[in-house]
Amino acid sequence: MFNVVIFGAPGSGKGTQSQNLIDEYGLYHISTGEVLRDHIARNTELGKIAQSYISQGQLIPDDLMVDILEDLLDKNPKETAKGVIFDGFPRTVPQARALTEMLEKKGSKVHAVVGLEVNDDELVDRILKRGRETGRADDNLETVKKRLDVYHNQTLPLRDFYTSEGKYHAINGSGDVSKIFESIKERLDKVKQN
Ligand code: AP5
Ligand code: MG
Repeated sequence: MFNVVIFGAPGSGKGTQSQNLIDEYGLYHISTGEVLRDHIARNTELGKIAQSYISQGQLIPDDLMVDILEDLLDKNPKETAKGVIFDGFPRTVPQARALTEMLEKKGSKVHAVVGLEVNDDELVDRILKRGRETGRADDNLETVKKRLDVYHNQTLPLRDFYTSEGKYHAINGSGDVSKIFESIKERLDKVKQN
């Protein structure tokens, strides 16, 4: 397996660059946000719980999120065999520890964490624009501010966590989408060679 975590604040381009990574490396994409939004659209029990957190810009509790991830990995052994792009997970240190354990059980690990770094003003502009264009429910000013607070307080500590493991690759996430992808590819190709 070749496992990549795509990491960054709301609106930093995780989903956009994941698409490029799928095309380049044939990896399986797990976007926890998309999984949760699908449950909300189908009005499942999980969807009802997720809705109450997402609409407030808060994180779904770790235990629940880890169970969802384990399910996704176990249910898709063929698809995940080459490796996975984790988009939106982990978001807390306990989630990162759980991911290490889940992959260890498969004899694997996180190979690289790609951190898309973009300043907050640009993030807000991008998200509000997408909110106007697509109507995504959590893309409004009030929720965006909460999502950014949650990111800085609960998720950003993971940068140190993965830096200390020598896995964090900082990428400037502003500018041309294809140029950003070139920088990601340059880093990941090196990781793959080692
Ligand atoms: P999630 O869906 O993961 O949302 P997010 O982290 O807030 O990130 P986004 O999807 O908004 O942005 P992105 O980084 O994917 O950027 P994108 O490529 O779309 O999570 C939603 C919610 O679910 C969370 O708030 C939480 O409640 C819950 N949740 C999910 N995972 C969880 C977990 N593990 N634990 C607990 N709770 C969890 O780009 C954004 C926009 O910018 C797009 O319009 C795009 O076209 C544009 N864009 C991209 N790149 C560029 C560029 N270089 N220049 C200009 N525009 C660009
Ligand atoms: Mg996304």
